[in-house]
Amino acid sequence: MDLGLSGKVALVTASSGGIGMSVAKSLAREGADIVLLARSSDKLQQLATLLREEYHVRVMPVVGSMLEPADHDRLFSSIESEFGRLDIAVLNTGRPPSPLRDALAEADGSRWQQSYETLLACIIAITQRAYPLMVANKWGRMIALTSASVHLPMPHHALSSVFRAGVEAYMRHLSSEIGAAGITVNCVAPALIDSSHREATLSYSAEQTAKRTAMSALKRLGTHEELASVVTFLASVPAGFVTGESLRVDGGMVTAALHH
Ligand SMILES: NC(=O)c1ccc[n+]([C@@H]2O[C@H](COP(=O)([O-])OP(=O)(O)OC[C@H]3O[C@@H](n4cnc5c(N)ncnc54)[C@H](OP(=O)(O)O)[C@@H]3O)[C@@H](O)[C@H]2O)c1
Repeated sequence: MDLGLSGKVALVTASSGGIGMSVAKSLAREGADIVLLARSSDKLQQLATLLREEYHVRVMPVVGSMLEPADHDRLFSSIESEFGRLDIAVLNTGRPPSPLRDALAEADGSRWQQSYETLLACIIAITQRAYPLMVANKWGRMIALTSASVHLPMPHHALSSVFRAGVEAYMRHLSSEIGAAGITVNCVAPALIDSSHREATLSYSAEQTAKRTAMSALKRLGTHEELASVVTFLASVPAGFVTGESLRVDGGMVTAALHH
């Protein structure tokens, strides 16, 4: 299937590593030009070089934070001057504060505030900047990465679920407000994706990994590539009649839980 992504310009936020990096690779493989945003200059430069060499696409790495309005200004003025357009925005974020805790143990207001800023507020801010560039061409794809914990309470995931439910609600509103401009708006809600790329203190222990694996109907963790492929399809031309959706990529976790 031709995904029609050659020559489209795609912004992928939080993309110096992990899931964001895999999405950037997947879109570049399909011929999209890529704008990267993250704070680690060296990692972004390395990824930009790899994408240019492997996929022969244009890549603009922007070093900055999703939490800094001045960095949003710089990001969007760079997109306008370098490409003059934006077709696709994949809104990935950093993680909620660690360690993960039970809902009632989340009594520290600063962790709620940090989660609001990290998971929800920055997505709203960047979406608002991306919209005018898409509406100018009457074509666009907005895809927010959320979490399947929005659809099924997962142990210790309250901070993630609460604000990502907000992202899903925001995106559903947006899908009906801007659909007439040819812009689709969807969420991809992962769970149980392999996190072993993270440094040991930020990943899961062997015991936690075994529990996570058991929660999936497929009895395995998902790969970054499997998640990135779903995002890439939603970004494509053939996915043009899918909007207002939240698509779980969770190895059947939610369905399996309902089965028990
Ligand atoms: N694994 C799963 O099953 C699963 C399920 C649901 C949701 N998620 C979510 O998916 C997201 C990505 O997960 P991951 O495993 O890829 O995480 P990760 O390996 O920690 O990567 C996070 C990325 O976000 C960037 N980042 C963090 N804060 C940023 C900021 N303020 N501004 C710009 N970029 C920032 C980091 O780059 P810099 O440090 O260079 O800025 C890095 O590239 C997380 O929000 C996670 O909670 C994962």
